[in-house]
Amino acid sequence: MQIYDVFKSMAFKMDPEKAHDLSMWGFSKFPLIFSGLFKQQQLGPQYSLEVAGLNWSFPVGLAAGLDKNAQAIDFFSKLYFGAIEVGTITPRPQAGNDKPRLFRYVNESSLRNRMGFNNLGMEEAYHNLKKCEKNSKIIGVNLGKNKTTTETKAADDYKVLYDKLAPLADYLVVNVSSPNTPGLRDLQSADKLKEIFLNLKESRKTCPKPLFLKISPDMAMEDIPSTVEVVKEFDLSGIIATNTTIMKERGDGGISGKLLYEKSFMMRNKILEILAESPQVELIGVGGISQFDDLVDFWKRGGKVCQIYTSFIYQGPQILVDFKNGIDNLMQKHGVQNLKDLLSVIKN
Ligand SMILES: Cc1cc2nc3c(=O)[nH]c(=O)nc-3n(C[C@H](O)[C@H](O)[C@H](O)COP(=O)(O)O)c2cc1C
Repeated sequence: MQIYDVFKSMAFKMDPEKAHDLSMWGFSKFPLIFSGLFKQQQLGPQYSLEVAGLNWSFPVGLAAGLDKNAQAIDFFSKLYFGAIEVGTITPRPQAGNDKPRLFRYVNESSLRNRMGFNNLGMEEAYHNLKKCEKNSKIIGVNLGKNKTTTETKAADDYKVLYDKLAPLADYLVVNVSSPNTPGLRDLQSADKLKEIFLNLKESRKTCPKPLFLKISPDMAMEDIPSTVEVVKEFDLSGIIATNTTIMKERGDGGISGKLLYEKSFMMRNKILEILAESPQVELIGVGGISQFDDLVDFWKRGGKVCQIYTSFIYQGPQILVDFKNGIDNLMQKHGVQNLKDLLSVIKN
């Protein structure tokens, strides 16, 4: 039995959010003790890939939502993760929705959450980012509007956040895709997106950092081309696809994990098809990725790096070792020495 299995057997007896909060407390207070348990040493350069000018030391990153306040970077950066995305961070602290708001579907390796951007606000995140130990990892900062900010003022929230946090971020993400903030996903329309990015223009000139847009898997497929157009028009680095999906029959909130995979996979494929003509725009794949073969399928269609959340909860840090072993085996099979070469072999 592995250490994570012992940890999980206890944590899964607890309420999901309590287990999450307790783990995050432990990871933030004792990052070296906890990361030491998993013995994930520094990786060699053969696993690295360049994304929007940034060097991901491993093609799997931590998705937003697990470390909302950037409090446990010192722990996550000691695992194989190539990038750690913190947030969603809003300008002002907010409590989020009423509890319970996080649910497990253990038999389906999935979760449902209606957290509602609970976070301590940008001042706390700034403070945490300033003192964190990145361990040469990429730090992404995911930005969202406060619940009480009206739609007409939404663009200002993203600007305030960008101005405050961009100097401490390697990349930033405009998140308009959570199903748990009323009206947020309406900001995904091309017009609303343009408002947000127009408003960010000066800030991006002052502090240029790779900027991504995170989208919902529930967006209509026919709206994807216009979203990609906005991404290109405003010279964003790329798209992160996808956030959680709504399954009304399961209740409020967003579903993640294996139940999300198919929908998210289809959306990523559609985006990759469109992006085939725009190689400068990146796609970070997220949504239900739970095994090495999922990543290989993403690579076959032209993808590069992915993120995980739910499969990390179910499988623990061992999932990163499994990905690494998968890469090692495939590199050996194809007789290549690094991941960059492996990706070009796989695509062809
Ligand atoms: C409990 C929970 C909270 C989340 N919070 C956020 C968030 O604050 N911001 C965000 O962009 N995505 C958030 N997500 C979505 C994840 O980043 C990811 O896009 C989604 O879960 C799909 O990936 P997965 O199937 O690997 O979990 C959250 C997901 C979960 C399960």
